[in-house]
Amino acid sequence: KANTLTPSDILARKGGDPLVCLTAYTTPMARLVDAHCDVVLVGDSVGMVLHGLPSTLGVTMEMMVMHGAAVARGVSRALMVVDMPFGSYEESPEQAFRNAARLMRQTGCAAVKLEGGVAMADTIAYLAARSIPVMAHIGLTPQAINTLGGYKVQGRGDDAARILSDARAVAEAGAFAVVLEKVPESLANQITADLPIPTIGIGASADCDGQILVVDDMLGLFAAFKPKFVKRFAELEGDADAAIADYAKQVRARSFPGPEHVFGDQAPEGTT
Ligand code: KIV
Ligand code: NA
Repeated sequence: KANTLTPSDILARKGGDPLVCLTAYTTPMARLVDAHCDVVLVGDSVGMVLHGLPSTLGVTMEMMVMHGAAVARGVSRALMVVDMPFGSYEESPEQAFRNAARLMRQTGCAAVKLEGGVAMADTIAYLAARSIPVMAHIGLTPQAINTLGGYKVQGRGDDAARILSDARAVAEAGAFAVVLEKVPESLANQITADLPIPTIGIGASADCDGQILVVDDMLGLFAAFKPKFVKRFAELEGDADAAIADYAKQVRARSFPGPEHVFGDQAPEGTT
């Protein structure tokens, strides 16, 4: 693929024009996102958004491979990053390498993302030293819901030092960018000023080096979920509901299909 953005290109954008990032899980959505964004993330949010799971903990490698391969068919310019699912990397750097390499081989992605700061620094360094670019993810890390005790803001007050240590650890380990999720704006700004790598905010700060949202959230397609940090740029769930209600009404009234949707006995002139 010519002119595809690389992890080094993304790293080089530190302090420059904001990095525009969104998720995608399917080929058609990947095409739409690729046309406007620098990074397409195949997030493990796919488990909640498309598969109806209650959290991201039930997401498997097989799901990430299948959605990653679908997204790859729709991406030509953006950097595609695939999330490592819960349980696929935490055990050891070797386990992380095996599964990250599988994601790269079977989806064609050029980078992976994993959750964790200080605790994952050795793993990030191990992958980076073995040709696997890593995007880190700190602050609110949804795979840690059970130890964090909910989807709460991370790094308020005295807890800021913990998140700052995580940020420094992943940058030092060689991550090419870091997602900062649901941390106070002032802390996100401090980390952005402190780190040599781009920060990508979600519920963080407009002064991060980039922003990311779940595309279904910002399109209003996953309307059941509306955290404060999501801005709805469209209300597609409402549009879809109205369209399906209209279809049901027309089928019941036998006004769909209409004459233009049905076939005559004879092929029209000039066709076969
Ligand atoms: O899974 C996901 O969609 C993510 C982004 C929200 C950063 O990790
Ligand atoms: Na994720």
